[in-house]
Amino acid sequence: MMMKFSVNDIRAQFPILQTKIGKYPLVYFDNGATSQKPQVVIDCINQYYSAENANIHRGVHHLSQVSTTNYENARKTIQAYLNAEKSEEIIFTKGTTDGINLIAQSFGRMLKAGDEILITEMEHHSNIVPWQMVAQERGLVVKYIPMNEAGELKLEGLDDLLTDRTKIVSLTHVSNALGTINPIEKIIEAAHQKGAKVVIDAAQSLQHFKVDVQALDCDFMVFSGHKIFGPTGVGILYGKEDLLNAMPPYQGGGDMIKTVSMKETTYNDLPHKFEAGTPNIVGGIGLGKAIEWLSSLDLEAIQAHENDLLAYATTALEAIPNLKIYGTAAQKSSTISFLIEGTHPYDIGTLLNQQGIAVRTGHHCTQPIMDFFEIPGTIRASFSFYNTHGEIDQFINALKKALAMLS
Ligand code: ALA
Repeated sequence: MMMKFSVNDIRAQFPILQTKIGKYPLVYFDNGATSQKPQVVIDCINQYYSAENANIHRGVHHLSQVSTTNYENARKTIQAYLNAEKSEEIIFTKGTTDGINLIAQSFGRMLKAGDEILITEMEHHSNIVPWQMVAQERGLVVKYIPMNEAGELKLEGLDDLLTDRTKIVSLTHVSNALGTINPIEKIIEAAHQKGAKVVIDAAQSLQHFKVDVQALDCDFMVFSGHKIFGPTGVGILYGKEDLLNAMPPYQGGGDMIKTVSMKETTYNDLPHKFEAGTPNIVGGIGLGKAIEWLSSLDLEAIQAHENDLLAYATTALEAIPNLKIYGTAAQKSSTISFLIEGTHPYDIGTLLNQQGIAVRTGHHCTQPIMDFFEIPGTIRASFSFYNTHGEIDQFINALKKALAMLS
């Protein structure tokens, strides 16, 4: 179904996009770090605290029931968006990092010394450190799929990297630092042939295009609410039911138990087994609202607009002398990392900010990528579908002014 995509109609739903930074209109190109929120999500959070606030799964009273229903409906909205088979497979977490730590500490506890975890050279620290931690605790081996100069995974050696000891393959769908879209279908298939389970870090993908966990046949998928137009402090772990059932709980506390005596505890069913303590209730409900809103848009048109922004900005940046783009994969999402010879990313970021432009500078929590390119960091512009060609023109003009000031 083709719907009309109007960037102005979309922008009108994001109050923060009207902000001025000094005398300059805000140009928000830091969507890789976090997305802005549409009015429906802001209203939903306001409504929750104004009229619905109560703890969930714990009360017979009216507000507790309203809150519980809204929270569980959010879970169902997210299940439908991912096309998970059951809502029990949707676990609320604090975010992507929390989701990966959950898998590493729970699935990881079932692994034996010498078992292998395969990740890639382009992972965010949150998909490296949790595996290194569990590897150190249990004598596991962490291996890496290498990357080429374009920032694409080198898959020629994948069959050798996958062994009978590989238990988990965990990789990002889209690189936060380079924008590379990885061919996860191929990697999932290869991993399954060796009997390994696959974790997909979708923190940078779901806000750009639709995924279907059943079609992909991934075993786990994690993402963060705040990067997909929802609140911070909430995220999702999708896991296949049989795997989640076999895994030990990650944290102990209220709601994750069936019975507790002074001698022993029995655990609750999914999804509650992995949701100890009072959760981020408004976060979950807000995330459900964000995903409901996103589902109402024409996702193909959104993707086309973002691809257009990427191509337009890439051409404009390439015309600037001594500018190098890091991440030139054939398949990219709307993220561009770059450096300009003779300048420091932080100085450029500061001078852009003085002209209303928000970009991220630094290593983007991907130090192994920076080591690969032998650079300290980059300037990263990451676009969302509410960004415009006019904003890219402002960004390029501001960048030229910054360069003139630094020269
Ligand atoms: N992971 C986020 C980013 O890439 C914070 O900026």
